[in-house]
Amino acid sequence: MARSDPHSYADPAQPVARHVHFAWDVDFAARRISGTATLTFEVPGGGPLDLDTKGLIVASVRDAVGKPVSWELEEEEPILGRRLHLEVPPGTALVSIDYSTSPDAVGLQWLTPAQTEGKAHPFLFSQCQPIHARTLAPLQDSPRFRVTYGADVTVPEPLSAVMSAASMGARQGPRPGTRTFAFRMPQAIPSYLIALAVGEIASRELSPRSRVWAEPSTVEAAAREFGGVEAMIATAEGIFGPYEWERYDMLVLPPSFPYGGMENPRMTFLTPTLIAGDRSLVDVVAHELAHSWTGNLVTNASMDHFWLNEGFTVWAERRILEALHGPERVALDWALGQTGLDLALDQFGRDSPVTRLRTDLQGIDPDDAFSRIPYEKGARFLALIERSVGRPRFDAFVREYMDRFRFTSISSEEFLAFVDERLPGTSAQVNATAWLYEPGIPANAPVFESKALEALAALAEGWASGRRPSREQAAAWTPTETLVYLQRLPRELPAADCAWLDATLGLSGRGNYEILVEWLTIAAGSDYEPAFPKLREVLTRVGRMKYLRPLYTAMGRHRRTRALAREIFAAASESYHVLSRRVAQSVMEKYAAPSP
Ligand code: BES
Ligand code: ZN
Repeated sequence: MARSDPHSYADPAQPVARHVHFAWDVDFAARRISGTATLTFEVPGGGPLDLDTKGLIVASVRDAVGKPVSWELEEEEPILGRRLHLEVPPGTALVSIDYSTSPDAVGLQWLTPAQTEGKAHPFLFSQCQPIHARTLAPLQDSPRFRVTYGADVTVPEPLSAVMSAASMGARQGPRPGTRTFAFRMPQAIPSYLIALAVGEIASRELSPRSRVWAEPSTVEAAAREFGGVEAMIATAEGIFGPYEWERYDMLVLPPSFPYGGMENPRMTFLTPTLIAGDRSLVDVVAHELAHSWTGNLVTNASMDHFWLNEGFTVWAERRILEALHGPERVALDWALGQTGLDLALDQFGRDSPVTRLRTDLQGIDPDDAFSRIPYEKGARFLALIERSVGRPRFDAFVREYMDRFRFTSISSEEFLAFVDERLPGTSAQVNATAWLYEPGIPANAPVFESKALEALAALAEGWASGRRPSREQAAAWTPTETLVYLQRLPRELPAADCAWLDATLGLSGRGNYEILVEWLTIAAGSDYEPAFPKLREVLTRVGRMKYLRPLYTAMGRHRRTRALAREIFAAASESYHVLSRRVAQSVMEKYAAPSP
């Protein structure tokens, strides 16, 4: 069978689940969720039904009246997991599957109390994108399917549960010392947006439709950092149309969260490294918020069309930031993005097939193909179309696009057909097929000009010939300007230059992790010993993959930093998320062998 999604066993010709109910019991000691997933079909149906599972132990499958449904768990495939094959009797309205998760479920990270900020209670969070929802529950785990969901989640007191859904309150649980939290998600979403977190969590109200949730010791700082969110939501609505998800809450996770943010509907998940103290990293919130339109409303049909989620969202994020802060600031964001794009292109090779926007990931783990390319190349493709037709026409097009495809999932080809329908002649004009189907970056990529960028680039280029910013000049830079400058400095500097840089720009003491990590990347690449304690501190505390990759990579340059990397990894890797562990491991595998 030719799969409609290279990463799922789900077959659209079979009965399709429209609603899923989870009855979950969260067991921290066993590191398992056990319970029931009840799949209600769009229309009562029957015949074969293939669901995605990974690591799940299935106990039984029954219909609405408790009659057993025959099932078989097929052999494990490395990326996909195990197909759960059901034979559903005709006219069946729903199936109820009793099961439990594996302690090594990739979609779940179980944290010990020591790995939390408060140190008193364990914590659990999920990360289902791209294909890990199947490690939480048996599902049609492809973004071309959408479900509404409900959940009853039993957790030990005094912990709370939150989900990417409306809270329906808490009640006493089935056993003493437990509480059951109820949820209802009325908007239909792809399975990768199902999300759960359990821990000691408090919240602060930011606006009538927004709260921030975090561990109690973090929640005040989080409320200050993200206090401007309502202005962002209102700005986004002005560009993309009404916010469709009622609430926009945010959850700040413990530092091992492997991403900067995850756009779980109604409850964006965020890394605590965004709490810089000066709101300088809230662009990540703009990004996750923008997904409420691009990604969550209009969804990529499979990971082969991932750029439709992320490229569109980077473009949308920068439109929001432009409306809030003006074009000069956003030109710097495009410049930061360009650096990330160039690094990724170098990492994969400019003619690698994964540098295409429309990919072919059959047989490839989407976590391994993950890079900035769909983000930045995709955003540039859209900005090119925007420039080609003019902003007013492009904005109208985007509104029509959201209207036409809302609550559906589409492919790159459907996107292109819609461009041809609404903006005739444009795809030829911008050479859309080259952007979508050819590797690398086409020569007609848009250029984002900015006076500040030119000045910073010239200053950084003069480093070797002795040009330096004055202390006053550097002190007047915004965090983004500082970052642009640091990114343009040589990757390896003499110790005296490192010392000067750290002292003049006050780098080691920065609360802004983008700046701190950029500095530590230079310091590590320079074998600069005074920075080692900070390097160890960051790599031990933080599991965000965006930071682990450059830091462990830079530490590969020198014998001493390679040894340090191995030592830190040995001590810290147990507390990394499995995806972060894999990233660090794959980087260190490319190190030169330890000298005898
Ligand atoms: N949806 C992504 C995170 C993701 C992508 C998780 C693919 C798993 C698989 C999220 O919206 C994202 O892009 N986060 C970025 C931040 C953003 C500002 C570019 C991140 O985590 O760095
Ligand atoms: Zn994103």
